[in-house]
Amino acid sequence: MSALLSDLLSVSADISADGELSIAGCRVLDLAEEYGTPLFIYDEAHLRRRCREAVSAFGDGVAYATKAFLCTAMARLAHEEGMQLDVATGGELHVALHAGVPADRLVMHGNNKSELELRMALESGVGRIVVDSFDELDRIETLVGAGLPAPTVLIRVNPGVEAHTHEYLRTGAADSKFGFSLSDGMADAAIDRAAASSSVDLAGVHAHIGSQVFVVDSFSKAIAALAPLVRRVAAREFSIGGGLGVAYVEGESAPTIAEWAGSVKAACAEAGIESRILAEPGRSIVAQAALTVYRVGTIKSIEGVRTYVSVDGGMSDNPRPVLYGSGYEAFLPRATHAKRDRLVRIVGKHCESGDVIVHEAMVPSDLAVGDILATPVTGAYGHTMGSNYNMVLRPPVVFARDGLARLVVRRETFADLVDRDV
Ligand code: LLP
Repeated sequence: MSALLSDLLSVSADISADGELSIAGCRVLDLAEEYGTPLFIYDEAHLRRRCREAVSAFGDGVAYATKAFLCTAMARLAHEEGMQLDVATGGELHVALHAGVPADRLVMHGNNKSELELRMALESGVGRIVVDSFDELDRIETLVGAGLPAPTVLIRVNPGVEAHTHEYLRTGAADSKFGFSLSDGMADAAIDRAAASSSVDLAGVHAHIGSQVFVVDSFSKAIAALAPLVRRVAAREFSIGGGLGVAYVEGESAPTIAEWAGSVKAACAEAGIESRILAEPGRSIVAQAALTVYRVGTIKSIEGVRTYVSVDGGMSDNPRPVLYGSGYEAFLPRATHAKRDRLVRIVGKHCESGDVIVHEAMVPSDLAVGDILATPVTGAYGHTMGSNYNMVLRPPVVFARDGLARLVVRRETFADLVDRDV
């Protein structure tokens, strides 16, 4: 395997002398056999290491953004490793509470929290609510007026900076549905209202500029823009949100969590921010921890045009290529040393031409029907953004650790598909 490709694998990935891939001592081909395909294989040591890295870089209060990947086991793992959890909907809140994470370790997000979601947050006693709008403040005041406990809140401020990332992943520019804008005075007005309200305890300011951001300078710009407000209200806490990018394809490189934290803290110090600095990484905790394994079902070569390699999953387990044009690598876990010199397009099994996993994949020339094919770096926004399109069954998830794999999410069944039909 090329050094560049192995850089994309998780910390416990190991390649045998004859080029076969194992994760945490589990042969990937054995896992594919035992659990079937498609299958998400997470390296548990990798997940734990990234969580610890985040806690040591930012200190207590750093939250794992569960939208990147959430199931009961993941919620427990992040909690065990000392992270708080960011939940952005009633559904994510429910899973975190179901996992046994204490409510005071949860941060509740969302640009349109319903009354039900706010009620769940207040009744369970979440640690922080990140307030996104005046309508939300109205709803919180009504609920507190009706006897629910007053929450501790951060005000989500839109700093009006452009993060260098995909348009859909940008959240901090002036034209955004998220948060109170700095530019039109709404952020100041929201802060003043929250500070004066007996229905909330104002802890500070929150910002999230976007996701898959490689340029740490984008965060520094946001910090500089927010600093006057943060200082004016003497915020106890200041959260820079999530957004640190990760490498998905050969040759990409991203800052580490420690480097990101270092630059965020330096920018805060330079801007005279004395608040406790918080953050909410999602992708950088989980993306490289997992790979997806598929089985190749058909290969169609169109003379002079291209070769399509169809696998048994697709846009229902990884919609990112379709949604954002995201790139991935593909390789054969049975032959990681093999030269990848054949250009193919890897597609899924959905009834849509757009159902592409890798537009231009380099694979070994002997790739054949029946092969197990892997795409690395699928741990973030794959399983959580999966769907049932075409009634394709959502894949299982295993956590591999010390030579053992444990099933943490089972494969969906045909019975599940009609379970909610009435
Ligand atoms: N905090 C807030 C308020 C967020 O909105 C997000 C992500 C995060 C933290 C975590 O950001 P991360 O560290 O994971 O970049 N589906 C897209 C990504 C959407 C991110 C949404 N918000 C993708 O597949 O690239």
